Amino acid sequence: MGGCRVVTTPDTTQPAPARTTVPGDAVRRATAASPVVRAARRQDVPHTPVWFMRQAGRSLPEYRRVREGVGMLESCRRPDLVTEITLQPVRRHGVDAAIFFSDIVVPLAAIGVDLDIVAGVGPVVARPIRSRADLAQLRDLTPDDVPDITESVGLLTAELGATPLIGFAGAPFTLASYLVEGGPSRNHEHTKALMHGDPALWHDLCAQLAQISGAFLRVQAEAGASVVQLFDSWAGVLSRADYTASVRSHSTAALAAVSDLDVPRIHFGVGTGELLALMGEVGAEVVGVDYRVSLTDALERLGGRYAVQGNLDPALLFAPWEPLERRVRAIVDEGRAAPGHIFNLGHGVLPDTDPDVLTRVVELVHEASAR
Ligand code: CP3
Repeated sequence: MGGCRVVTTPDTTQPAPARTTVPGDAVRRATAASPVVRAARRQDVPHTPVWFMRQAGRSLPEYRRVREGVGMLESCRRPDLVTEITLQPVRRHGVDAAIFFSDIVVPLAAIGVDLDIVAGVGPVVARPIRSRADLAQLRDLTPDDVPDITESVGLLTAELGATPLIGFAGAPFTLASYLVEGGPSRNHEHTKALMHGDPALWHDLCAQLAQISGAFLRVQAEAGASVVQLFDSWAGVLSRADYTASVRSHSTAALAAVSDLDVPRIHFGVGTGELLALMGEVGAEVVGVDYRVSLTDALERLGGRYAVQGNLDPALLFAPWEPLERRVRAIVDEGRAAPGHIFNLGHGVLPDTDPDVLTRVVELVHEASAR
């Protein structure tokens, strides 16, 4: 397996350097004709592909059963559980892609950061990073830190056949927010204080996180993920100026870590309507759109250069079928104008969602979009 190629200033005029063959190449040949991969590449599709962020998780009784008595972080490191949980929504809903069961903080735990994922809360970090000395908690991630991830991806792709597996990582800003705040945050005040109060430390922190994110994406892609998604979930709290000065170069570096592999890259954040064009420019083929911006407006902001993913409000899954059906059909219709459209939610499946409604939405998207 090749090491991580760190690219700080990607030069798109240069051809990609030669690289050795990785197991993922064979898997990607098997998934190249899938609607998710084709839509991501802006190729025509037989129907609009659909998957759901957080499709594996608490909305599924079979998930709650296998997770009984097993901590979240532990379940992410056990290939038997990762394989079973990742496949559950594919079997049940007939979605067009699997998303690897893991969490954005798994690579941080893998390099020894003392953290836990607390049920109903999210990631909680024992010693928040706010000074230069605190940076010593971090180091580069290598494939040897996560052999179980390589194993899980291998097991999964053998089961999935022509259905693509989506690998993912947290983007440097969103990871930094958890590390600096020490846990989930409404206002991200310590993060913004560090970004503006000590820009040199902020950039060093984010450069380190970009290496970790990029290496985590690369491990998944080399092992057989056909698509990757970079989650910058909380980037929507930033102005365009702050995103440009403090975040953009680091997300670019994270996505560049897989630019020589043939994996389309999806870039998603919540409340990022003002940032959509910037989020495409950092190196994505697909831009995720949340439910606050219509696909039509998003396409205009993106200038037709990217495929889009989205954007049903996850709360609408609790509405009666009629208004939900109308909304799903409207999103499918708006997506026809896109160079490529992958149907998804505007954010993750809420834990109390009725899984049968998700299955019906998959059937409806397929039927309504059949070409
Ligand atoms: O199905 C999938 O989407 C794959 C699995 C996945 C998880 N986390 C599993 C998980 C993915 C893609 C993530 C990414 C993730 N984790 C993000 C980015 C996506 C987003 O929602 O914006 C973020 C911000 C995190 C951090 C995190 N981890 C949060 C906010 C939570 C929820 C806390 C809670 O309990 O409500 C987690 C825990 C987590 N990650 C769960 C799952 C299934 C719930 C834990 C459980 O079931 O016990």
